Amino acid sequence: MGITVLLGAQWGDEGKGRIVDALAQDADIVARFNGGDNAGHSITIGSQVVKLHLVPSGIFRDTCLNVLGNGVVLNPRNLLKEMAEIRSAGIEVTPRRLRISQSAHVILPGHIALDAAREAAGGGIGTTQRGIGFAYMDKASRTGIRTGLMADPEAFGDAVQKHTEQVNKTLANEYGRGPLDAHELAVEYANAARQLAPYLDNTFHIMQRALADGKRILAEGAQAALLDIDHGTYPFVTSSNATVGGVITGLAVPPQAITRVVGVAKAFATRVGGGPFVTELQGEMALRLRGTGANPWDEYGSTTGRPRRVGWFDAVALRYTAQLNGMSEVALTKLDILSGIDVLKICVGYLVDGTQLDDFPQDTAVLARCTPVYEEIPGWHEDVSRMRTFAELPERLHAYLRRIETLCGVRVTIVSVGPEREQLILSS
Ligand code: IMP
Repeated sequence: MGITVLLGAQWGDEGKGRIVDALAQDADIVARFNGGDNAGHSITIGSQVVKLHLVPSGIFRDTCLNVLGNGVVLNPRNLLKEMAEIRSAGIEVTPRRLRISQSAHVILPGHIALDAAREAAGGGIGTTQRGIGFAYMDKASRTGIRTGLMADPEAFGDAVQKHTEQVNKTLANEYGRGPLDAHELAVEYANAARQLAPYLDNTFHIMQRALADGKRILAEGAQAALLDIDHGTYPFVTSSNATVGGVITGLAVPPQAITRVVGVAKAFATRVGGGPFVTELQGEMALRLRGTGANPWDEYGSTTGRPRRVGWFDAVALRYTAQLNGMSEVALTKLDILSGIDVLKICVGYLVDGTQLDDFPQDTAVLARCTPVYEEIPGWHEDVSRMRTFAELPERLHAYLRRIETLCGVRVTIVSVGPEREQLILSS
């Protein structure tokens, strides 16, 4: 009962989708509380691979209601495309299965154009170019367009036209870029509003009723703790609260309703975009951990296709995000990728200016100057991808998990040893 929160514990792409998919089996509601279609993960349904960017993973469970909370930013064009793709896999996407908060904010082509222009001009941080930052900027400056306006498609179209005309001035004046077609977009978005209006709802009431009725709610985080706008490696972050506080504001639920916080971490570390990454690797080991890109689970962005930066497991960072979120447990993914490496390294401290730091610095400039202090752990050589219980896993892998648990102060209760559903091992 109550709310289980699932969060990224590193820099994103930890494999949250499949853990959500597994936990959604027991959920009555799966709800997104932050971010937009900058997130992404793939789910295999029969022979079809469906990419989810915004729709919660509970859409694949017929009894589950899926909610997009007020903390989300929503791109109507991309959401409609995603809904159509899910439908083409034979899945019902109707207001019975999906509700959208009336108080979420809308991402428009103008936001995306500005995001792209800033990135191209060299002033960006390596965003996904989904317009996320610019949509949240409008929200914070109280000039944003809320999803609720889609209930009046004509007014929504007018607002889109006005927004686009304003953006066109900035595109011309600041970036020397040509205009977007404001009229054409107004027509397209009024039409999108007509299609999405039936999904709009007061999601505060939905959550209140669900809690009162003892429903099981899964809050599905997007991005991750170290990309949180307040607690991540600012300014190399996304523009929302990807930490547990984001659940309370982004879904409108009381804190005491949260009964379980599961952090998802990879057995090594990855990051896309700019920003400090203390345990980052180059060379052969980096190639080994990243993979060639031939497999969908190799380390290439699911939204942008960018190769991910890779590094050793950072226990300093995970201890920080475990404390920050009150994590009750950790799901550790991709342990199979470490099979066959003779010596594994875990970062247990940071060195900066000759001093060892045991805690994650809040000052990103300090973090950028940190070098890792490693502990070496003997690796395992067994192919773990066929193992299905904790008991079967090799002793050296257990030792790796125990060391992480001790260093980070949190239990590892779920591990993954491959991309398939059955390759997820849950402790009993
Ligand atoms: P934005 O969220 O597109 O503005 O990008 C801001 C930063 O967050 C960039 O470094 C992105 O690479 C990163 N980011 C955003 N979404 C994800 C994600 O789902 N996985 C990993 N990194 C992400």
